[in-house]
Amino acid sequence: MTDTVRVALAERSYDIHVGEGLLPRAGALIAPILHRPRVAVITDETVAAHHLDSLREGLAVQGIAMEALALPPGEATKGWPEFTRTVEWLLDQKVERRDVVVALGGGVIGDLAGFAAAVLRRGVRFVQVPTSLLAQVDSSVGGKTGINTRHGKNLVGAFHQPSLVLCDTGILDTLPPRDFLAGYGEVVKYGLLGDAAFFDWLEAHGPALAHGDRAARIRAVRRSCEMKAEIVARDETEQGDRALLNLGHTFCHALEAATGYSDRLLHGEGVAIGCLLAFELSARLGLCSQEDPSRLAAHLRQMGTKVTLADIPGDLPDADGLLELMAQDKKVMDGKLRFILARGIGQAFVTSDVPSDTVRAVLTDALRARNG
Ligand code: GLY
Repeated sequence: MTDTVRVALAERSYDIHVGEGLLPRAGALIAPILHRPRVAVITDETVAAHHLDSLREGLAVQGIAMEALALPPGEATKGWPEFTRTVEWLLDQKVERRDVVVALGGGVIGDLAGFAAAVLRRGVRFVQVPTSLLAQVDSSVGGKTGINTRHGKNLVGAFHQPSLVLCDTGILDTLPPRDFLAGYGEVVKYGLLGDAAFFDWLEAHGPALAHGDRAARIRAVRRSCEMKAEIVARDETEQGDRALLNLGHTFCHALEAATGYSDRLLHGEGVAIGCLLAFELSARLGLCSQEDPSRLAAHLRQMGTKVTLADIPGDLPDADGLLELMAQDKKVMDGKLRFILARGIGQAFVTSDVPSDTVRAVLTDALRARNG
């Protein structure tokens, strides 16, 4: 069974296919957008070991040849040295203006390969084949591409929409459980920001999904992609509504900076904790009832992922230190932090009107609970 979600962006519209066994069918799915039967694949060494042969065979069924570059796995790859290497390699492969680059990997590979495609010969098309849950429900869709610099994450990049996204949910079986659950932080975000019925469904089916329920995985990835597609179609370059996708991210980015972007806290874990803090903040501001953050905390606990600051090992700065890290977030506008708050589950909105004393109070309480 394959579901298809359309991202409606006029001449840059594209399909997201969601289902099992898409890699073996990659040739048939990609062939319609090719001008000649060859593609250049960017991947990482870990993903290549698991999935590159399957992609190669899937393409070969349609007579499509491929060359592949496997980069080292990990966030450190997403910088200038590996980016330069990738662009030069694509030119070595004589990738032409009408050719297609395939990004086979998680968020690091998708962002880097997408950015390489955006600038190569002033822009070639690319296909996202996301292999992590986080990449399937978030980073592969919507056209944000880029790399990190010494000044921070994702500070250099381009909006460059893929021509096709293949979310093979069977691939998720090869993910370590912690990575899968981290990706779940982004799934739950969609229910929280705009679809209370989806959140209800996740409460009922989340544990089965984590334990490998295939139909539940397809449904969760499809609903997440549908919601992202709707938001991106409304606001491709984040002038307004797209910022809703950053629910939990202002807190998350401060916590990631505080933990040195290390495996003390994976991005999706920070999103889950950040969503809970955003709901705590919303409740404290009288926007939603205290029942909403309590319900979210109970669901995250049920899933076995990180829930609060107490779940982050090692030292953390105090509330003022965290506020300072938040102030460096790239979502600061005219010196004001933008928050995504909620009037209830499924009812998020964007605001810059949040008193920093209230944010400090939420952080102080969260740190106090952590320190017992
Ligand atoms: N990951 C947030 C966005 O694509 O806008």
